[in-house]
Amino acid sequence: MTFETDAIRITNLEKRYGATVAVADLSLVVPKGSMFGFLGPNGSGKSTTIGCLTGLLDPTAGSIEILGEKFTAESAPLKRRMGVMPETLGLFDPLYAHEFLGFVARMFGLDEADTRRRVTDLLAALDLTDTRKTLAEYSTGMRKRVAFAAAVIHSPDVLFLDEPFESIDPAGVAAMKQWLRRFTEQGRTVFITSHVLETVERLCDRVAIITKPGKLVWQGDITVLANDGKLEYEGRGFNSLEALFLHLTGERYSDLNWL
Ligand SMILES: Nc1ncnc2c1ncn2[C@@H]1O[C@H](COP(=O)(O)OP(=O)(O)OP(=O)(O)O)[C@@H](O)[C@H]1O
Ligand SMILES: [Mg+2]
Repeated sequence: MTFETDAIRITNLEKRYGATVAVADLSLVVPKGSMFGFLGPNGSGKSTTIGCLTGLLDPTAGSIEILGEKFTAESAPLKRRMGVMPETLGLFDPLYAHEFLGFVARMFGLDEADTRRRVTDLLAALDLTDTRKTLAEYSTGMRKRVAFAAAVIHSPDVLFLDEPFESIDPAGVAAMKQWLRRFTEQGRTVFITSHVLETVERLCDRVAIITKPGKLVWQGDITVLANDGKLEYEGRGFNSLEALFLHLTGERYSDLNWL
């Protein structure tokens, strides 16, 4: 018998693209009910990891458990409990938003009445009521909103969001953050990547930081920051996520003295 205390359990995950090692040997546990920030510099393997965790990519090695069950790309019942907003969004451009969301809802097994209700709710909540345009004609932020709607339409237990807030306007971000907080208060889990560390600091309770190639360099509870606590790393204390992140990853850039 397995207990669902962990939402995600990654063991020795490896993913190669030909000769490129994108994720070398990642092990990580994400507790159920957490708002988990998965951080790292460009190219460190975040999207690749999310791809492996959601069945969009086949891992080269390692194992993944979601909600206490072994996960593979063929785990259909488990996939119905998961939602994903991939970096590439995964939209089908020729469709209108309501058509695309209806298609996604049916794919997740929602009946006709639920599909109609949830599509209508999501279009209204995400301010996507301009129905004269296909997804190909939507702005960047509107496309992002549709991808978010597609990730949550079946009310999943574990939600994977790859850079969900980038390009979305401030009111949209505020609404999304409020929904996500309610989502985790109900014991469901959010696994989120973002480069906006202030947002992560205010939204997430736990964080993992990786460096290339998918190497875990720090993980911990960041709620201590709200109580003037510090994030510890090798005997030093950091009073913000940004300070810690720059310490762990900031050496890569050099000056442009002609600019
Ligand atoms: N389809 C692909 N083919 C070959 N290499 C790839 C492919 N996708 C990603 N990579 C490589 O895998 C590594 C990890 O990329 P990944 O997209 O997972 O990084 P990331 O952490 O999501 O970065 P970003 O913050 O820029 O989104 C990089 O070295 C990248 O060049
Ligand atoms: Mg990425």
